[in-house]
Amino acid sequence: MHEAPTVIATSASSALGTAVADALGTPLGSCTRERFPDSEAHVAVHADVRDREVYVVGSTSPPVDAHLMELALLTDACRRGDAGRITAVIPYFGYARQDRRSAPGEAVATRVAAEVLEAAGVQRVVVVDPHTPALEAMFGVPVEAVTAVPMLARALQEDLSEQHVVVAPDLGAVKLAERVAAYLELPTAVVRKTRVSGAAVETSGLVGDVRGMAPVLVDDMVSTAGTLEAAAAALRAAGCQTEMLVAAVHGLFVGGAVARLAALPLRRLVITDSVPPPARLPAGRVETLAPMLASTIARLERGESLGELAAHG
Ligand code: R5P
Repeated sequence: MHEAPTVIATSASSALGTAVADALGTPLGSCTRERFPDSEAHVAVHADVRDREVYVVGSTSPPVDAHLMELALLTDACRRGDAGRITAVIPYFGYARQDRRSAPGEAVATRVAAEVLEAAGVQRVVVVDPHTPALEAMFGVPVEAVTAVPMLARALQEDLSEQHVVVAPDLGAVKLAERVAAYLELPTAVVRKTRVSGAAVETSGLVGDVRGMAPVLVDDMVSTAGTLEAAAAALRAAGCQTEMLVAAVHGLFVGGAVARLAALPLRRLVITDSVPPPARLPAGRVETLAPMLASTIARLERGESLGELAAHG
C-alpha cells in the first residue's frame, strides 16, 4: 500500500499545515521550532521521514527572513533524515516581488530565496498565485503554481450586482483581475499606479469605464493597503460608487494596513489564509486554502495532473 506522505509545517503556517494534514487524513508531523536567545533559529524533525514523501508547508510571510530560514532548516533536517522527495508547499512566497533589477545596484532577491531553498534540499515547490510568473524560472526544480481565483470569485458572488466592475489596482494585477472577471462575467478597469517607495504609491488616472459602477478590487496581495487606499481615491475621482468589494490572495497586513482598511468604505474583503489573518479584519472573510492544498498533494502523490488547480495554462 502507498504510504501517506509526511506533512510538517513551519511556525508561519502551523494552522494551515495542520488543516492540510487533517484533510489528507494524516497527523501533522512532529517537529521542534525554536529560537536561541540571540534569535538564531533551531529546528528538529521528530516525524518519521526516512524514504517518505515529505511536504513542508511554510509561507515566507513576515518576518520574511526568519520564516524563509525556518523553511530551509526544516528542509535540511528532512534531507539529513534521509527523506524521499521533499516538496516545499509555500502558500505565500515572500521575495517574489524582486524578480529583476529595476535599478542599478539592486539584487535579484527572488533568485536568492530560491537558491537558499534548493541548497537546503527542496526538490519540488508548490506555490499559490505567486506574484511573478518568473518564479518558475528562478528555481531549477519543478514549481507547481495553483490558484485561489475560483475560491475568491465564489466568495465574492453573494455581494455582487450587475453594476460591478472588476478593478486591477495596478498594472501588475491585471492578469489576476481578468481571471476573476472572466469567472464572474464582469467588465474590467485598471488603475495606473506608480510605486514611490515600499510604503508609498501614487496613481495617475485609470483605464476603463467605472462611472456609476461598483468596484471589485482584485490584487495578489494586500501589504500596507496603500495600493487599495490610492485605488479607492482614483475610483472616487472617476465617479465610481464608493462602497468596495476587495479580493486578494495574500493578506500581509503590515505597516498600519488594518487601520487603513478600517477607514475605507469596504463592503467585503475576501482573502485566503496563505498568511494567518489578523483577529479583527474590517469586513473580512477568510477562505481557507487547506482543501485545495490537500487536493494538490493528493494528486501529486497519485502522479495526476493538477488540472484546474493550476494557475497558468
Ligand atoms: C504590487 O505589485 C502588488 O501586486 C500589490 O499591489 C502590492 O504589493 C500591495 O502592497 P501595498 O498593500 O503595500 O500597497
